Amino acid sequence: MLELGIQQVQVSCVSCLWFGACVCQVSIPTTTVGAPPQVSQHQGHLRAREEVELAISQTAQQLGGYADVLLLHTPGRPLGENATFPSCAAQGSWKECRLLAWRQLIRAQQDGLAKEIGVSNFDCSHLKEIEAAGLRMPLYNQIEVSAACPMNEELRFCQVAHGIHTLAYSPLGGAYTPKLREQLRTSVSSVAARLGRSSEQVLLRYVIQRYDAVVLPGASSVKHMAANLDLFRFELTKDDVEAISASAPRECAYPMYQPGQIP
Ligand SMILES: NC(=O)c1ccc[n+]([C@@H]2O[C@H](COP(=O)([O-])OP(=O)(O)OC[C@H]3O[C@@H](n4cnc5c(N)ncnc54)[C@H](OP(=O)(O)O)[C@@H]3O)[C@@H](O)[C@H]2O)c1
Repeated sequence: MLELGIQQVQVSCVSCLWFGACVCQVSIPTTTVGAPPQVSQHQGHLRAREEVELAISQTAQQLGGYADVLLLHTPGRPLGENATFPSCAAQGSWKECRLLAWRQLIRAQQDGLAKEIGVSNFDCSHLKEIEAAGLRMPLYNQIEVSAACPMNEELRFCQVAHGIHTLAYSPLGGAYTPKLREQLRTSVSSVAARLGRSSEQVLLRYVIQRYDAVVLPGASSVKHMAANLDLFRFELTKDDVEAISASAPRECAYPMYQPGQIP
């Protein structure tokens, strides 16, 4: 990866928080740690704060002192998941947990443990909570965006209004959805043939042009990594973008993280 010139990669969540959020970072990976300690619900706010602090400091330590980008992963547990609410999630809402964790991320940035901070899978209502609390807004929101999973318009508007950049995960349809990936490939094959590019390069370029987003394709093969770095020497026409929007299948790889799914 380093030989290819890749400077930023996303490592998996190294430490999950007891109320369902994880802290992830985008940086050069070192190692991962095991499962987080189990914390019982009645330990309340103080313990939650300690858990967030621990997750952040472990992450920074593993990365040699600081993370380039530290994200708060998921605003809570999706609706329908068989989960009890922790005590910081008062009245069936994860709001207090989110704000508690976000304050810790702000502090981590002030302390030099993270260069930039952001969130993941937040919808507009979650972002507005941060604004209403008078806290610094996230620089990034990492969300699923692909030709098959269009960005929610309200969220898009909300992010533009707050200067929040989109980091698009699963931009090729998701690692665990091979059927969807194949459908996507097929839907752009004629554009790819005309441009002399692979279907995946066209799909990534589509997300960049259509949503002004940073794409985060997952790739274990060096050939794919090299192809995914070569996205800025060709362009789709306006007609290409419109045709792909109209013909691509509609299915998100992670419907449980779509706006409105996490209270
Ligand atoms: N924040 C969240 O909730 C969340 C959720 C899901 C994923 N993510 C993150 O999003 C990133 C990517 O998502 P993802 O891996 O699920 O899905 P993805 O990027 O849509 O798809 C990954 C798949 O596409 C293949 N691929 C990549 N580049 C290719 C190319 N140029 N040509 C052909 N095939 C190519 C990969 O194959 P090879 O591996 O064989 O190269 C892999 O099977 C990861 O960093 C992941 O951690 C975040």
